[in-house]
Order: sequence, then C-alpha cells, then structure tokens
Amino acid sequence: MIKKILVIHGPNLNLLGEREPGVYGNMTIDTLNDNIIERAKEQGMQCEIFQSNHEGAIIDKLHAARTSFDGVILNAGAYTHYSYAIRDAIAAIKIPVIEVHISNVFARDAFRANSVISEVCRGTICGFGAISYYLAVQALAEL
Ligand code: DQA
Repeated sequence: MIKKILVIHGPNLNLLGEREPGVYGNMTIDTLNDNIIERAKEQGMQCEIFQSNHEGAIIDKLHAARTSFDGVILNAGAYTHYSYAIRDAIAAIKIPVIEVHISNVFARDAFRANSVISEVCRGTICGFGAISYYLAVQALAEL
C-alpha cells in the first residue's frame, strides 16, 4: 500500500505561473504544491515535494526515494526528451514512478512527442494542466 509519495519537479518548473502562461497556466508552483499535498492527504498519503533544475540532483533524489518513499510523481521537464541518465535512475529503482506533464506534449514541438523515460515509468499522464498531477496522486493511491 502506498503511504508516502515524492513529487519531483524538474527544470524551469520553479517558474510556473510566470513561465509561458498560455502553455503552463497561471498557477504558481507554491499553489500547485499546496493542492498536491492536500489531495495526497485526502487519499491518506504523506507527500514531499522537490524541485531542481539540475539533472544530477534529480537522479540523487530518485536514488534516495527508493528506501524512503513508496512512489514518485515525476515531471522531468525537458529532460524527459533526452536524459538517458534519468531513465536509467528510474529503471534502477523498484518503486513506481509516474511521468506527468502539464502540457499535451504530443500537440507541441515534434521533439516533445518523444519521451525517453516513458518505457521505464509505471504510466504517463499529460495535457491536463495541474490536474495531471492530481490524477497521478489518485493513480498512486489506487495502485
Ligand atoms: C513539460 C513539457 C516539457 O516538454 C517541457 O520541457 C517542460 C514542461 C510539461 O509539464 O508540460 O519543461 O514537462
């Protein structure tokens, strides 16, 4: 049963709310995080949230998560499309990792349609704005 979850926001997601609002919406990362924590609580789960603009820091956090969390929600930002190192880190740990994206990555630049992490993730949710994260919380609660 999943009790403790970790949310990882990758590069540039610290600027949510001011970054390309037409694509990513107006909600700040602080409000988004409050909402995610609230929804996790409703599902009886504890939630920690981490944001980094650095590939190695995201990899370190995934490694650390394997012994202290039951599941991970990961928005790897642009690393999604080319980081084999993050892919390998996900493959190396046994807890489920759900890939999320705020935008519909299939309806944008061609390079965004390819994810090098999808194959090693438990599932992928994209295109629903902040709701992508909330759906991932629900998925982990029901796994
Ligand atoms: C994103 C989509 C990526 O292509 C982009 O590089 C991001 C955010 C999303 O949440 O829609 O930084 O992961």
